[in-house]
Amino acid sequence: MKSTESMTDFDRIIDRRELLKGSLVLGAGAFVATAIPAARVLAHPTIRFNPVAANGHDTVTVPEGFEWRVVAAWGDPLWSGEPGFDQVTRGTAASQAMAFGDNCDGMAFFQVNDRYLLAVNNEYCNRNIIYGNRASGLPENDDDVHKGMAAHGVSVFEVARRDGQWRIVLDSPYNRKITAATPAEITGPARGHDLLKTTADPTGTRSLGTWNNCGNGVTPWGTFLTCEENFNGYFAAPGQPEAELSDALKRYGVKTKDRGYDWSRVDDRFDVARNPNEPNRAGYIVEIDPSAPQSAPKKRTAMGRFKHENCEVVVADSGHVVAYMGDDERGEFIYRFVSSGRFVPGAEGNGDLLEDGVLSVAKFEEDGSGRWIELTPEATGMSREEICVLSRVAGSRVGATTMDRPEWVAANPHKAEVYCCLTNNKNRGIKPNAGGDPTPVGGPNPREANRYGQIVRWVPAGGDHTAEGFSWDLFVIAGNPGVHDDARAGSANVNVDNMFNSPDGLAFDSLGNLWIQTDGNYSNEGDFAGMGNNQMLMADVETGEIRRFLVGPKECEITGITWSTDKRTMFVGIQHPGEDNPATCHFPDGGSSVPRSAVIAVTRTDGGYVG
Ligand code: FEO
Ligand code: CA
Ligand code: CA
Repeated sequence: MKSTESMTDFDRIIDRRELLKGSLVLGAGAFVATAIPAARVLAHPTIRFNPVAANGHDTVTVPEGFEWRVVAAWGDPLWSGEPGFDQVTRGTAASQAMAFGDNCDGMAFFQVNDRYLLAVNNEYCNRNIIYGNRASGLPENDDDVHKGMAAHGVSVFEVARRDGQWRIVLDSPYNRKITAATPAEITGPARGHDLLKTTADPTGTRSLGTWNNCGNGVTPWGTFLTCEENFNGYFAAPGQPEAELSDALKRYGVKTKDRGYDWSRVDDRFDVARNPNEPNRAGYIVEIDPSAPQSAPKKRTAMGRFKHENCEVVVADSGHVVAYMGDDERGEFIYRFVSSGRFVPGAEGNGDLLEDGVLSVAKFEEDGSGRWIELTPEATGMSREEICVLSRVAGSRVGATTMDRPEWVAANPHKAEVYCCLTNNKNRGIKPNAGGDPTPVGGPNPREANRYGQIVRWVPAGGDHTAEGFSWDLFVIAGNPGVHDDARAGSANVNVDNMFNSPDGLAFDSLGNLWIQTDGNYSNEGDFAGMGNNQMLMADVETGEIRRFLVGPKECEITGITWSTDKRTMFVGIQHPGEDNPATCHFPDGGSSVPRSAVIAVTRTDGGYVG
């Protein structure tokens, strides 16, 4: 705690609460790794700031009294002796293998003894940027392809605050690159199943790498969960473009036509005609122990296979570990995993809790009630292993509710309630999902051809995250009240000063503020007039009030958020600045530089709390 002389008003509020409340018990969902002092749990917390206006600037805008700095940008070396980012070549396979990956997304801050680590997903590449040195804007040789593979995955690195600024600690023993080639272990019920066997791995137990890592989760035992999302986009069948793929592969969007990564050029695993089971080995929650850099990432088949957005973990009062997960595709489902075992703080067996449990899908009713339907062999007509690998098919068989692209899920750390961004869905009410399930307008998906998105909230029955039932409502329906006066204006807590579209990233801070990050249309015209660049807003979930906190640079998405242990730094991800028109965007280096995705650190100029 700071000295009284340097305390801010906000610190004083916290200290006064500390005196008043004495010893508050942390909510069951509080993470050991990021546990906050009980004194900082406020009844009605907030972070005070004057909201920022929407804008189209090519920089990050934060409120007065706050500041930001870059911590790590695409291509920044994690080891010494490596060249810095090369503005001309944009790196090689060799340099990228030693450097921070591209398109940062979900991330988490860890404290290991007295050291601080960031684990950051590197979701994908903008081919026109990473291969902007090529006339085609695509990989043109094997080295280019390997560069792209090394830009995907997860970057783990130590950070330290020097001269008031967070920086990468080069050569830290914790620094690690997990890419599309890193050996991983397949665990859980489907381990060794025929669906997971390939020529290269006839045991169906060892896969190589992880890619298209989107949102994330953190476990109470201090591991990072990286979520494999659009894994399908890396497979092709270059020699057999007319090959007929199975219905199961089609349900997951696997195609024979290459989408510009050309991975099958250097590795047969990505030739789906030759290795039709390889896509079955991706699309999982992958558990990584950042404190053990030699450990193999573990793919958790018990948690289902779909286009995983993030993985919000809470511990139920019973001790069962509950994970809420969205499947980001039009008309796909929201899932819940409940571990078979129970979490015991400090126990050695905690590391295996995600290996076994019950996977369910959400069914929302029009009357505001809902329930979790267990994906059992009896309910689905599928084996346990098939349910793990073909979870979408299982969800369809039990009639789960088709959603408007479920993105991040966030659980309130102070009470049993859960929020999920439904980002948008142009097919709502118009087209079924890829499994043929209808997508009727109604319930938590109330608008046809939904362009703006909404955030659904549910409360588990009896406050028990393992309960079958829940009640739900819509916390916010995004819209544009400056353009529309019908349902497209949005809910009452949307106004011309805070409007946004396509909520995506979502997280609670330790005080109970809800942070909303957007990945939407940044044209700032027509239906989106007045919304500006993608942004981050803070919501008070008690009052429903939403205020814009941050605006990103041109053509970026804001995604990924985590806090330092002392809650005085908020790390935020700026993904794909200048994605469509890279010549017009120069974030973060300015001048005529190549735009680069980056993790930034946001702090208060007075050093106060930011979450
Ligand atoms: Fe990777 Fe659904 O965002
Ligand atoms: Ca996302
Ligand atoms: Ca998105």
